[in-house]
Amino acid sequence: LPDFPVQNEPVLGYLKNSPERKQLEEAIKQVSSQVEEVPLIIGDKEYKTDDVRYQVMPHNHKHKIAKFYYANKEILNKAIQVATETQKKWDRVPIAERIKIWDRAATMMSKQYRANLNATTMLGQSKTMIQAEIDSAAELIDFFRFNSYFFKEATKYQPISENPRETINSMRYRGVDGFMAAVAPFNFTAIGGNLAYTPALAGNSVLWKPSDTALLSNWQIFKICREAGVPAGVVNFVPADGPVFGDTITASPMFAGINFTGSVPTFQRLWDQVGKNLNKYVNFPRLIGECGGKNYHFVHSSADVMTVVNGTIRSAFEYCGQKCSACSRMYVPESLWPKIREGLLAERDKLKIGDPTQADAFMGAVIDARAFERISGYINHAKNSKNLKILGGGKCDNSVGYFIEPTIIQTTDPKDKIMTEEIFGPVLTIYVYKDGKEDEIMELIDTSTQFALTGAVFARDVPFQKKALDTLRMTSGNFYINDKSTGSVVGQQPFGGARMSGTNDKAGGPHYVLRFANPQAIKETF
Ligand code: ALA
Repeated sequence: LPDFPVQNEPVLGYLKNSPERKQLEEAIKQVSSQVEEVPLIIGDKEYKTDDVRYQVMPHNHKHKIAKFYYANKEILNKAIQVATETQKKWDRVPIAERIKIWDRAATMMSKQYRANLNATTMLGQSKTMIQAEIDSAAELIDFFRFNSYFFKEATKYQPISENPRETINSMRYRGVDGFMAAVAPFNFTAIGGNLAYTPALAGNSVLWKPSDTALLSNWQIFKICREAGVPAGVVNFVPADGPVFGDTITASPMFAGINFTGSVPTFQRLWDQVGKNLNKYVNFPRLIGECGGKNYHFVHSSADVMTVVNGTIRSAFEYCGQKCSACSRMYVPESLWPKIREGLLAERDKLKIGDPTQADAFMGAVIDARAFERISGYINHAKNSKNLKILGGGKCDNSVGYFIEPTIIQTTDPKDKIMTEEIFGPVLTIYVYKDGKEDEIMELIDTSTQFALTGAVFARDVPFQKKALDTLRMTSGNFYINDKSTGSVVGQQPFGGARMSGTNDKAGGPHYVLRFANPQAIKETF
């Protein structure tokens, strides 16, 4: 194997009485015992507005953990001005120095702030210990280290100078003149960090709009990065109403790009706003987005049943199916259905749902009232439709927290909306097909949704694996053979989808950071 100089952060075990478990328990106590006040930050100044908001714990929605403020148009315009001024100085900081700051931030996240990042993610976003650890510890740290490494490697390239006595050719990697924006989702703390800090690494300044429902964990990242040495004004922390934020940034001539994770309609609206303002801009803004999926598990008759069952339970139900990569539609051949059905239902019955800080919890609550309504709406649709049958789960209870049982549905209509629309919750729908009809199923997978994020084929038949890989080439940005559709690792499986799933810029891959770079090729003649 090549000697790879950067390693993935180890995922800790959190066994009872282990030092990491004790630290985490302390941090959970501390985070849940207060309502942290989070100001807006522009440059080195704090701001507060009359538009006060709270972050609550999804599994106990009466319990507040953060108080924060929405930026109004005026504050956002101030942030644009500060960011644009800061960019000119920040761009001149040598890349090697920026990388040192990123490395310091990663070490701080790994050591002294790991428990805090995990506690704020667990309580604020209702993640279990392990789901927090793979997100707000491992993946977040990996993004900082791998993007630095990839940027260092990419910027090493220098063009050839045929006659260095007469000319020297070189490349310098600048940021983009103006400011960029990062619009982050709730479902991964690490994604928030990556969206805001990778453009910054490349020499840009950023307006960061965190998700209201991931406010506290994103705020920890911001504080850590400032402490690690990211200068004031490079990243500006500005929670805001989505349309107000979108309209204000896209109206500025200095708008240089957006790094977005969220819904298709919101991303389309941003493109639309950009189109309307095109003749104003100094740059063609870079529009980078990831917009969800309708991810599939496609089972062939040669598949190993245990692999299918375990992978599907994890993909569909870990973090309540709220990973953008989660499996929500499944195609199973008749010959394997009895065993797969039995396995899925038996495993589903074992899943414990409740307070995610309890060590035996498998799932917490879904993120908020809106998500609860949307997901329970699909479950009600299943209850009322003759084509759909709920095989397990289906209970929804929002009296204390937004709890939805892991739900398994069988459909006789593979084009029912439950098989084609993104649900973003713990709902798995299965279509059982006749053995030998694999070509028809692949056609369905390819054509029945607008998305192309992740997908998995389960088969031990190697020629079939190859055929599926070729036939399904456009159906997912991340394709798995005999593994579940979730769990991409930074530096190992660069992540992102095509079609309406996004611009497929592959977060965690070697080229991602270059999307934010603005290279200048220099020819010096003597
Ligand atoms: N990177 C996350 C996963 O693959 C979204 O599950």
